[in-house]
Amino acid sequence: NWTPAQIIEDQIARVRDQVGDRHVLLGLSGGVDSSVVAALLHKAIGDQLTCVFVDNGLLRKAEGDQVMETFAKHMGVKVIRVDAEDLFLDKLKGVDEPEAKRKIIGNTFIDVFDAEAAKIEGVDFLAQGTIYPDVIESAAAKTGKAHVIKSHHNVGGLPETMKLKLVEPLRELFKDEVRKLGVELGLPYDMVYRHPFPGPGLGVRILGEVKKEYADILREADAIFIEELHNAGWYHKTSQAFAVFLPVKSVGVVGDGRRYEWVIALRAVETIDFMTARWAHLPYELLEKVSNRIINEITGVSRVTYDVSSKPPATIEWE
Ligand code: XMP
Repeated sequence: NWTPAQIIEDQIARVRDQVGDRHVLLGLSGGVDSSVVAALLHKAIGDQLTCVFVDNGLLRKAEGDQVMETFAKHMGVKVIRVDAEDLFLDKLKGVDEPEAKRKIIGNTFIDVFDAEAAKIEGVDFLAQGTIYPDVIESAAAKTGKAHVIKSHHNVGGLPETMKLKLVEPLRELFKDEVRKLGVELGLPYDMVYRHPFPGPGLGVRILGEVKKEYADILREADAIFIEELHNAGWYHKTSQAFAVFLPVKSVGVVGDGRRYEWVIALRAVETIDFMTARWAHLPYELLEKVSNRIINEITGVSRVTYDVSSKPPATIEWE
């Protein structure tokens, strides 16, 4: 019988024991797992922890600022923010195939993270937000491997050159336990209970080629959708909800003028395991409000659609 407080105390002792007075590096993504590791390690070893947060330009609205606010400003965690938007967008230029985009985003993340890590002196450990289901999954995928190297981009690990020992304080925990730890550690409830967000981020929610113009529009549309879900009390009734940018143009009218602009699709699902999912039966009034706000408030969008596809056969993401 455990309590979050006991687990935290236990893990703090273990981490201190493992790390001693040496230094630990952590890739902070803003997701639940790496956030809980950051909070836990900060409590355990304070300034011996350095986090690197890579802003790939494919994050949700204000996400980068929120990460800095929570960790650097409020908790006093050492966080290096790397603004790599231009680099990621440049590498993605002309690429429209989903798996190719995933690979580029993953590899670019490693390059940026590795370059940043190389600037920090005397790091001996790499912390990771590996949780128990990751361990199981990895064991099933490649038997015999003692450690899972998990990056938030699913690319299978950092380069060999980074011969760092791993610190993985969440290895024995399930997601719901990790969340309880997060709350106990003082992380904001909204961060701990946020919907999952894929490593490649908006990169796979902009269909086809990724462009800054598209990402900026999508960020605004997504923020409106999420805000209205919260307002209507529907956010936590869905497992995942987001907007998708469709690079097709559709005609609309404003006043007595015609507009010929982009289309946004809304996706919201209910699921237990993310292997199968049912599209969320959101109230029409909510969809109406979101649609009106997106079309009225965002220049460049003339039409909003709602995705009524189940998984299978449709996946949750559009790419
Ligand atoms: P699909 O689209 O396969 O998504 O039904 C199932 C869950 O996985 C997430 N997802 C990803 N997460 N990197 C990630 O870290 C990815 O490339 C990726 N693709 C899908 C998706 O958001 C959903 O929660």
